[in-house]
Amino acid sequence: MPNLCVNIAGIKMKNPFTVGSGTFGNDGEFEKFFPIELLGALTPKTIRSYEWPGNPPPRLAEAAAGLLSSVGIPSKSWERFVKEDVPVLKKIPIPVIQSVIGRTEEEYVEIVKKCSDLGVFAGIELNLSCPNLKQGGLSFGSDPQASESLIKKVRKQTKLPLIAKLPPDYSNIVNVAKAVESAGADAIAMINAPRAMAIDYKTRKPVLGNKVGALSGPAIKPIAVYLVWEVYKAVSIPIIGMGGIVDFRDVIEFMSAGARAVAFGTINFIDTQAIPRALKDLENYLIENNIDDVNEIVGCAHC
Ligand SMILES: Cc1cc2nc3c(=O)[nH]c(=O)nc-3n(C[C@H](O)[C@H](O)[C@H](O)COP(=O)(O)O)c2cc1C
Repeated sequence: MPNLCVNIAGIKMKNPFTVGSGTFGNDGEFEKFFPIELLGALTPKTIRSYEWPGNPPPRLAEAAAGLLSSVGIPSKSWERFVKEDVPVLKKIPIPVIQSVIGRTEEEYVEIVKKCSDLGVFAGIELNLSCPNLKQGGLSFGSDPQASESLIKKVRKQTKLPLIAKLPPDYSNIVNVAKAVESAGADAIAMINAPRAMAIDYKTRKPVLGNKVGALSGPAIKPIAVYLVWEVYKAVSIPIIGMGGIVDFRDVIEFMSAGARAVAFGTINFIDTQAIPRALKDLENYLIENNIDDVNEIVGCAHC
């Protein structure tokens, strides 16, 4: 049997598969579809350190080959998160990478410290890329200086692996990736969904409650693969690749571009069996191609 284990900055994953934050259940509901231990790691929905209502509905709309969303990171209070979610997350038998966000550096520092002190998580993903917020997220991930300053501050709060989740910002994603690496990030997750919108031709008004949203799903895959390819050339830290992955072929494409692990996102809304099927198919592909170790594929398109 080929080796499927990958190591993301000390997070030992028994296979390269995780889920895109916000696209998979948080409270055990995923067990209805397949055993959670099939995944290499779980990445739950981004949380804030305070209660937040999120964006007005409608929050989702279909697009050709994709999904438009504008959820806005609704969040429970920290107290409710600890009481309701942490007991469920504690029982998960695979590494859990908690995604967090803040409006300011201070809020990121606060939530990272709180999460780290719980002693439950294998790593922390810093959402520097939510496209649907007025404050925080994207304002850090689209600016090399702001992301560097932020990572330096949160780095002091935790010994856990820090993963910076970046936006698909063509003009400077490579500079941001270099900045977060030099500031102490241990890995990069990419990409978050690019900003997008739809207008109802009947009403001639925006479809989403927030007017502007973000596009995810197969429509963005070639963009994501290209950006992983560029960032892989620029940094040495591992990359968790995502954006439109639906099957094992996409997994191989992302890994060949330079991703060491991959996340399944929007496909989870369409096909709850996509992950178990892709895992089996990946294993068969490795066997058929005489590849002993899935790590051999990482970056091989660059050779
Ligand atoms: C409904 C929805 C909610 C999302 N929520 C989050 C979130 O809370 N935090 C985050 O970092 N990314 C969030 N994302 C982005 C995904 O994690 C992923 O980066 C993006 O959708 C690209 O992957 P995909 O095309 O496979 O979905 C969300 C995406 C969708 C569709």
